[in-house]
Amino acid sequence: MQKKVICPGSFDPVTLGHIDIIRRASRMFDHVVVGVLNNVAKTPSFSTEERIALLRKTLDGIDNVEVVGFDGLLAQYAKDNNITAIVKGLRAVSDFEYEFQQALTNKKLNSELETVFLTCNSDYMYLSSSIVKQVASLGGDISPFVPECVHDEILDRLK
Ligand code: PNS
Repeated sequence: MQKKVICPGSFDPVTLGHIDIIRRASRMFDHVVVGVLNNVAKTPSFSTEERIALLRKTLDGIDNVEVVGFDGLLAQYAKDNNITAIVKGLRAVSDFEYEFQQALTNKKLNSELETVFLTCNSDYMYLSSSIVKQVASLGGDISPFVPECVHDEILDRLK
């Protein structure tokens, strides 16, 4: 059976840390769906369409990766689309409680669905979309944080 997994997130905007996790997942599994979702706890700075477009441009050329946006429950989307696992990156202990809560909730909602955590690349331990937004809004250089091919688009929207 083909192993189809999902890398979900708000990607507001995409960072090099996200791309590292997605690329590594694409080498481990047959097919990776990058799910662009809304986190009810956050108000996005980029529209869903913008976030999807930035990810598609960055991931262009990786054949087994597709980018989709959807509303509703992640666990239900996985069930409806034959997705066997959620793949997420863990940066630090501070991520753990939040991620653990989500993993257990998703398992309760869909008992077939596993959550796999990849240890983040040490280069991106500190990195988050919020950091990118904060640095850009204060006139800082975001080139170490975001994919080069979408750097200008992200900067134009944030400055
Ligand atoms: O990048 P984020 O903001 O940490 O991603 C969180 C996200 C979007 C993956 C999470 O909020 C989510 O799964 N939202 C979809 C709604 C859902 O299924 N909620 C219940 C899971 S706890």
